Amino acid sequence: SPTDQGGEVSASFVVVANRLPVDRVQNPDGTVDWRTSPGGLVTALEPVMRANEGAWVGWHGAPDEVLDPFEEDGITIVPVPLSTDEVADYYEGFSNGTLWPLYHDVVAPPAFHRVWWDAYVRVNRRFAERAAQVSDQGATVWVQDYQLQLVPQMLRMMRPDLRIGFFLHIPFPPVELFQQLPWRREITEGLLGADLIGFQLPGAAQNFARLVRQRVSAEVRRDQITLGDGHVARARAYPISIDSRSFHELSRSEPVQQRARDIRRDLGEPKVMFLGVDRLDYTKGIKQRLRAFGELILEGRLDPDDVVFVQIATPSRERVEEYRHLRDEIDMLVGRINGDAGRIGRSPLVYLHSSFPREEMAAMYSAADVMVVTPLRDGMNLVAKEFVACRGADDGALVLSEFAGAAYELKQAYKINPYDINDIKATLELASHDAPNNKARRMRALRKQVFDNDIAKWADNFLTDLDQTVTG
Ligand code: ADP
Ligand code: F6P
Repeated sequence: SPTDQGGEVSASFVVVANRLPVDRVQNPDGTVDWRTSPGGLVTALEPVMRANEGAWVGWHGAPDEVLDPFEEDGITIVPVPLSTDEVADYYEGFSNGTLWPLYHDVVAPPAFHRVWWDAYVRVNRRFAERAAQVSDQGATVWVQDYQLQLVPQMLRMMRPDLRIGFFLHIPFPPVELFQQLPWRREITEGLLGADLIGFQLPGAAQNFARLVRQRVSAEVRRDQITLGDGHVARARAYPISIDSRSFHELSRSEPVQQRARDIRRDLGEPKVMFLGVDRLDYTKGIKQRLRAFGELILEGRLDPDDVVFVQIATPSRERVEEYRHLRDEIDMLVGRINGDAGRIGRSPLVYLHSSFPREEMAAMYSAADVMVVTPLRDGMNLVAKEFVACRGADDGALVLSEFAGAAYELKQAYKINPYDINDIKATLELASHDAPNNKARRMRALRKQVFDNDIAKWADNFLTDLDQTVTG
């Protein structure tokens, strides 16, 4: 268990991620609050950290603050500081202006700037150094996601005694796209410093193996990569999940059930409630789904007296240009649809640009009839799994993009191609009207998948494999 030795943390299990599970937010009156951080990484890893005692090294979401380690709900938190310039160049710049669009099929154009790269290297070194300081002899260190791809190699140079795992929460692109990156060699070598490199899907692990074969002098045998110095890295798929049981129990609790009934009442007791839940991100296909819904209403294929679409979007990366632009576009689209199709006392689209507590999310998932998940590309998409986990019976329908990692496991969802608006329209119609026995058959299979493959199993699969690797 992590010990505090004269103010310093020392742990045998260490997670390193850009985000901590909590963000430090300063209120206008100067007081400080800690809030759950946005995104799937935190949803997935928080229960893992509660089950395994360990330290979590990460950034607390605010610039220019140096904070001491502290305990939060049984997790030892080790904050890593970022300056204002580093937030702009490493986080908003290289991580979210270069890597994020490049790894998501270039659905927005990635920008390549050398000053961003320099900040990325500097900040990755800081995370590696902090992880090296808090890790016991022979500790297991699990590095997370695209913001920290150089950390495995840096850490291995500093601390060859450590067992190093890496997990990429987002897609790993085909070589044809990855090779645009001016720093492709450094990133590849950075990842290869790990003993085990985890991806969401087998296709991503294969993309990586193909890249290594073409670009690095290493021997690649199936998932095993042997480097010149004898170090062996393995590249495998571990589709991530959620704490299915705890989502289920939360959604079945009486207050959450009552809240779900209130939500439907406040919406005017619609026959069909559609729901979208996303970080406000251009990869999520929010525009495509709203456009499809709007057309269905205008064409009279859905009756605004019967249906309502609730779209919840968490503010995200708001200083990055593409995200600002997206927000404006969605505001306009929502206004247009409600302007065209709404009546006094009835708007077909309810749009909430805000973040909610988990209880409220569980109530929304329980209240909804059709969950609409339409990313143009997504590593996994935990929202899809949360909806399934929150169902109390074999009812409700999940509309799911083929381009979400979750489609690999959730085969019984109503699948759509998000680039095909007619396909989205036809599938929204089908999912809202389909016979109850068809819905039940699909939902039964989805629930089994989500309950059989939860986050504890994911962590166990990864850490067992990591444990069996030979370091060196
Ligand atoms: P990503 O990691 O890209 O954000 P995921 O779908 O994997 O996408 O994970 C999103 C996580 O954020 C889920 O756990 C979801 O419940 C949570 N979330 C999304 N929107 C909101 C919101 N408006 N309020 C609270 N939590 C949200
Ligand atoms: O895996 C998805 C992810 O990008 C995480 O790495 C990240 O923590 C989360 O979504 C939310 O994004 P951000 O940390 O940039 O707010």
